Amino acid sequence: MNHVPSLSSLYDRVSRVVPKAEWMFFEDDVRAILDLKRRRNAVILAHNYQTPEIFHCVADIVGDSLALARKAVETDAEVIVLAGVHFMAETAKLLNPAKTVLIPDMGAGCSLAESITPEDVALLRQAHPGVPVITYVNTSAAVKAASDICCTSGNARQIVESLGVPRVIMIPDEFLARNVAKETDVEIIAWHGHCEVHELFTAADVRQLRENHPGVMVLAHPECPPEVVAEADFAGSTAVMSDYVGAHRPARVVLLTECSMSDNVSVHHPDIEFIRPCNLCPHMKRITLSNIREALELNRHEVTVDPAIAADARRAVERMLAL
Ligand code: 13P
Ligand code: SF4
Repeated sequence: MNHVPSLSSLYDRVSRVVPKAEWMFFEDDVRAILDLKRRRNAVILAHNYQTPEIFHCVADIVGDSLALARKAVETDAEVIVLAGVHFMAETAKLLNPAKTVLIPDMGAGCSLAESITPEDVALLRQAHPGVPVITYVNTSAAVKAASDICCTSGNARQIVESLGVPRVIMIPDEFLARNVAKETDVEIIAWHGHCEVHELFTAADVRQLRENHPGVMVLAHPECPPEVVAEADFAGSTAVMSDYVGAHRPARVVLLTECSMSDNVSVHHPDIEFIRPCNLCPHMKRITLSNIREALELNRHEVTVDPAIAADARRAVERMLAL
């Protein structure tokens, strides 16, 4: 039987980023969620942008989109609760068709996933006959089904180069595509989707940060505009940024990404100063302890994938995971 941590030891984990006054409101939900997980043979997969009381206190598996997709296949739980956005839950369902996959709020979307439809993909293929379509996982299952292979921000360049062709179509994030294009000889045809969180960072922000915080190490997510990535010291997926902080241990660092990242990473590095200009993802922030508890209590909201597209979408994700 799994050891159940005490509430006080859980609070110790997050006490640097969650005020005691707030924790008092979380305790009842944390206790109930730990109990419901046992009773329902459930696991909680949480993305790096989830708030610390979710990320550090009730999640079983945490990570970037790539890690969540990989680990979704490994669990033997009957129920998966995806503390993240809808495309992540859909990916978990594609990889675990026999399991119940729940998302605590069906409205947790993504501006990138909203930016493109399967019809758009068909038009792109018509305009560029024979050019393979690489689709960022931040898309609907229907768009994945219309694609050749998926990628995440953690493996995008590797996927582009794995196809052994001179040109690829890479959808839907224009900035990710342009950032990858700088690192490879493969020609990349991009779409015009943007992440509403990362598109807000500017190169002027980075220069201002360096002026105000001398010596700061600047890490950016590759969904940021290329001019921001060019001013940063390093760019990588959320998991890669977190590993980079651990490996390089800068005295002060800024993570140009969603706000909860710094909270979650700083818990492991009390000696590092995290400078915190950040942008909130309103979709990620729809997930709370209280709706995770409701999801487990009421078995809602179940994520399903239309059988007419599931096999093709799964093929695109599995092709990525096989590399
Ligand atoms: P990662 O795969 O880097 O975690 O990114 C997911 C995401 O939604 C970033 O905005
Ligand atoms: Fe989508 Fe951007 Fe939110 Fe990530 S941060 S889920 S890419 S809107």
